[in-house]
Amino acid sequence: MVPPVATNTLPRTGPASARRTTVFLKMVMAVSGALFVLYVLLHMYGNLKIFSGVEAFDHYAESLRTLLTPILPVGGVLWLLRALLIVSVVAHVWAAAQLWRRANGARSNRYFAKEAARAALTSKAMRWGGIALLLFVIWHLLQFTIVKFNVGPDAAAGNSVGALVISSFQVWWVALIYLLAMIALGMHLYHGVFSASQTLGWSTTAKARARARATATVIALVVAVGFILPPLAILFGIVKGN
Ligand code: HEM
Repeated sequence: MVPPVATNTLPRTGPASARRTTVFLKMVMAVSGALFVLYVLLHMYGNLKIFSGVEAFDHYAESLRTLLTPILPVGGVLWLLRALLIVSVVAHVWAAAQLWRRANGARSNRYFAKEAARAALTSKAMRWGGIALLLFVIWHLLQFTIVKFNVGPDAAAGNSVGALVISSFQVWWVALIYLLAMIALGMHLYHGVFSASQTLGWSTTAKARARARATATVIALVVAVGFILPPLAILFGIVKGN
């Protein structure tokens, strides 16, 4: 268990312990963040099935539910994944909130270095971007998983998640919400992957930092572009329903 630290004043247990706690919190952010990266890559790949048609998409969604049956019950793997994601979200948000409080407490003297001011701006963008993404995920789950509401023109979308996706993204403002969210996600991933590489000690030299930036750019672009292709293709009529 991590020793408690005072958040708005200097830590009672001394600066070394405060540094250890900060490193621990950043580790929690990095490890839970890495799980999200894996998840979004898989989810993004799955979404591209919509280019093969509604049936292929529904078949893929169904196969996720029947994965490893009968060893596990129907939906077993999905529930294990959901549990892992929920634990990761709670850990990521909790660690971010702790780091936020600690940073606020430490910010009693003015910045005199441009670099520090820029880092503070990035941290702010990460926090507000993270909150926006959390709100997006709540909306997204209500729309496609929990309530499955259809704001699009296809009243017969019914039980087919593929048809619901096609119907929803024919509405310009739904596509716009996703476009903005994917830009936020790309930026969040770029900074997140780079910070994680620093936390994990993978970017200690200038060369390693350049490599980490390149890796972060590739991951952010692949995820953001891969995710936004289906909504845009549906909006512009390139992918149509049955
Ligand atoms: C354009 C972007 C996206 C599209 C079109 C999309 C589409 C979908 C669809 C259709 C489902 C329902 C799947 C099913 O019931 O079989 C779903 C579920 C889900 N999506 Fe997305 N998604 C997108 C982006 C994201 C992002 C960025 C995240 C997370 C950061 C995310 C997280 C989830 C989660 C957690 C589920 C629930 C999976 C489950 O437990 O059943 N999605 N998405």
